[in-house]
Amino acid sequence: MCGIVGYIGPQSVVPVIIEGLRRLEYRGYDSAGIAVAGGPSGLELRRAPGKLRNLENVIRDSPIDGTFGIGHTRWATHGRPTEENAHPHRDGSGTLVVVHNGIVENYLALKKELIAKGHKFVSETDTEIIAHLIQDAYENGEPQVIGHGRAQTASPYAASESANESEAVVTTLHPDGSRPTMSLEEAVRRAVKRITGAFAIGVLSALEPNKLVAARMGPPAVIGIGEGEFFLASDVPGILHHTRNIHFLADGEVAILTKEGVTLTDFQGAALPLKVQRITWDPIQAEKAGYKHFMLKEINEQPRAIRDTTLGRVSLDTGKVFLEAMQISDDDLRNASQITIAACGTSWHAGLAGKFMIERLARLPVEVDYASEYRYRDPIADPRAIGLLITQSGETADTLAAQAELIAKGSKTLAICNVVGAAITRKAQGTLTTNAGPEIGVASTKAFTAQLTALFVLALHLAQVRGTISDEESLHLVTELSKLPGKLASLLNINSPDAPGSSEGVAAPTRLSQNARFGPAQNVGYNKNLSFRPEAQSDLSGLTQNVSSRPERSGVEGPPHFATDRRSTTRQPLSAQCEELARLFHTSDDFLFLGRGIHYPIALEGALKLKEISYIHAEGYPAGEMKHGPNALIDESLPVVCIATKDPNDPSSVLKYEKTLSNIQEVTARSGRVIAIAIEGDTEISQLVEQTIYIPQAPELLLPILEVVPLQLLAYHIAVRRGCDVDQPRNLAKSVTVE
Ligand code: F6R
Repeated sequence: MCGIVGYIGPQSVVPVIIEGLRRLEYRGYDSAGIAVAGGPSGLELRRAPGKLRNLENVIRDSPIDGTFGIGHTRWATHGRPTEENAHPHRDGSGTLVVVHNGIVENYLALKKELIAKGHKFVSETDTEIIAHLIQDAYENGEPQVIGHGRAQTASPYAASESANESEAVVTTLHPDGSRPTMSLEEAVRRAVKRITGAFAIGVLSALEPNKLVAARMGPPAVIGIGEGEFFLASDVPGILHHTRNIHFLADGEVAILTKEGVTLTDFQGAALPLKVQRITWDPIQAEKAGYKHFMLKEINEQPRAIRDTTLGRVSLDTGKVFLEAMQISDDDLRNASQITIAACGTSWHAGLAGKFMIERLARLPVEVDYASEYRYRDPIADPRAIGLLITQSGETADTLAAQAELIAKGSKTLAICNVVGAAITRKAQGTLTTNAGPEIGVASTKAFTAQLTALFVLALHLAQVRGTISDEESLHLVTELSKLPGKLASLLNINSPDAPGSSEGVAAPTRLSQNARFGPAQNVGYNKNLSFRPEAQSDLSGLTQNVSSRPERSGVEGPPHFATDRRSTTRQPLSAQCEELARLFHTSDDFLFLGRGIHYPIALEGALKLKEISYIHAEGYPAGEMKHGPNALIDESLPVVCIATKDPNDPSSVLKYEKTLSNIQEVTARSGRVIAIAIEGDTEISQLVEQTIYIPQAPELLLPILEVVPLQLLAYHIAVRRGCDVDQPRNLAKSVTVE
């Protein structure tokens, strides 16, 4: 939520920042802005409401240049998405600018105080307060020595033109030219200590040329170390094409970037060491790689995401699960009274499915809460309960707040998270990293199936520790888990030497076939904690390292021939099938998604995917609940997507399936138009419904990972047909860092 990029170095600053913002635009796209200094005109700002391209147009009409700068892409919290509210924000003197991701909770009190001191505000944002707080520190601080040896002085408004370097220890001047004051970093330190809330900020001042200051408390920020150039960004993809050497700024750190290097302090000013990590994941993972949209690319990356989430954590020889080291002992797990899951949105749906997995395998009660509700419902304290936070980004404010509440009540917390080092993982006693790789599309896809995979692995682990599963059953389930990547590849018609039913030799564009190979997990930023143990070796036979994905190419898979042929019980190319369904149903005003048991959270997820990217009203419902009210909605215009899968080896799954068939009949009897998700070879279902999408067979608890894929593709193709912005749906952003 909000993307920040900063640059200092020899390159032309504007293209570096704009390109970085483009790669971070998934974090917000309500407005964008840039400030540069050190050029012929001193400090220059350009801002525009709406997407980044609007800012680019503004810069094209009114070019700027400089030697250092900061940029921002915004998801609006305080204040409408107008130009005035776009970042960067200036202080009263106009010499200092700030970009900010987060929220200043005490901004009203601070604003009142600053207004009383004579500060004037021009925007509705909380960020502008930060600029004025820093200015206030500048104006009211005691004179301080800045720099050690070589330092710079500057005239207030034309920094680059008049900057005089000297070898002496010097002080900067206030814009009125009269008052010696403190360094920018000291002013920033003083300002941030006054803020309650969450922030990652980038600050530059025309008074101190060639210096950027960044500070963090909450939302993420990374510092990139290049050859004679230095970067600031909200996330690695923003700068990965320039450098792989990254320091992940921690809470309470202040980074000072100059042309000479980067120094780090805490909020008190004490020096801290830089901890530079080398990012080894392929930058292509954060690019579209020939696909029309990130979402489509990420849907097709699911076989790899599932494999990388499983790899090294299970033994195909013994069925044993090996998790990363954590500060929760096996005794804690054995004696746990319950698992309390807190998450938001798609991650909450994963949590609901996880409840079925954990309760079924480990016989441990599970509560699933919306993270945004948890701390407001006065939850009953139980130190023997283990909190489980599920989050793609690891920085969702609601989930962080739920974690804080759990910790305050004495629970230990575990995280399932896709971003190594994210805020939630730092507060947790253990983390299962999902290894899905960077997810850029705002609608979560591969992170969701990776979460389901991690939950399944965790459920198995709990069952083994608690002795609720036999070795034979463990081995069976681990073997089935290892087949999932191959089944997914087959479902997606991804070319794979190992995947059964891989596609019919569709040629992929050269760029993709060269670049988008699924390699082994190699994403330091996202999988550093993955532990490989000798006992846990497995080849995950369904998918080898050479599986490659290919982009969506409309029409290349041959004509869809599934739609009205009720006798066909085998799978047709899924994407073509979903495209055809989109053609038939994209004008519908409403959709219903139904499922029972562990399939119900998948119905919820199907509805959420459709809502968020196509703006069609959709609801997920437990199939059995229809007769208690929602049946009243059914008429000949209502598409009802029904998950009607079964595991024939599982009596409770078969029973559920039979009940679901009855529910389907209740819908069709009222002229509802049913699209069923069923298991390949099911001859019964295709006789009952208008459309059937087939998926491969798997054990009941693993079926959700397959079922959700057609729902993702259905939502995708409907959104494309409706002309929606699939990767950046209106009013949304990834990583919601406000409550
Ligand atoms: C929907 C979606 C959101 C997120 C939710 C939680 O496609 O992505 O519902 O799942 O905002 O985000 P994380 O998982 O980052 O905590």
